Amino acid sequence: MVTAWFYADSDADPREPHQYEPNREVSLDELARLGVLHWTFDPDTELDKVNELAAQRKYVSRDEVNIARDTLPNYDEKLKTFFTEHIHDDEEIRYILAGSGYFDVRDEQDRWVRINTKKGDMIILPAGSYHRFILDTNNYLKAMRLFKEDPKWTPINRSEETDKHERRVEYLEALKKAAAPAAAAVGKRASPESDAADAAPAETADLPAAKKLKDEAAAPAAGAADAQSEPATATAAE
Ligand SMILES: [Fe+2]
Repeated sequence: MVTAWFYADSDADPREPHQYEPNREVSLDELARLGVLHWTFDPDTELDKVNELAAQRKYVSRDEVNIARDTLPNYDEKLKTFFTEHIHDDEEIRYILAGSGYFDVRDEQDRWVRINTKKGDMIILPAGSYHRFILDTNNYLKAMRLFKEDPKWTPINRSEETDKHERRVEYLEALKKAAAPAAAAVGKRASPESDAADAAPAETADLPAAKKLKDEAAAPAAGAADAQSEPATATAAE
């Protein structure tokens, strides 16, 4: 099961946890509100559930990436790319087959939320969300990457231009929509005569199925040993 916290900026190695003292934990509900979905499936016994989810979300292809100095070509360069803040046109889905690592996502106040993933965790970052990836100090992660098209992975690095990217704008709109019902409820309590903006139901709308999270979060925790599983296709470096 993933855990998350606000990232404390410092000059320390980004592979370190970067927690505040005391740690400022970010709840799973908060992750859901940001549109981040996650599940836990045991790679040794529950690959059918991964396949089911991939079919539901129309992921037709997949590959595996083995991120370690002796397995990933251009390791240092790749890690720099992974850790450069970016968005994608589509959601990013990763299933951790072995090892561990950190996905950092921005919240709407532009704070980094660090998500700790390990073997068995599946995570989906919504299209248009600024994020980055880094190994932790174990320096190893093997992940399945799933795609809606042939394997491709195109980061669009953060810039003023990217801030205006269609997917980015859509993502921010979805965040606002998700926040609106709560804000309306608070407003109503504060001034009962106002009926501002309470018509819409609590649509988690385009934040991909944030509501599903609660059901899925109950998925059995990853357990067990270390045997490797091997889904479909080959290793591609990117
Ligand atoms: Fe990415």
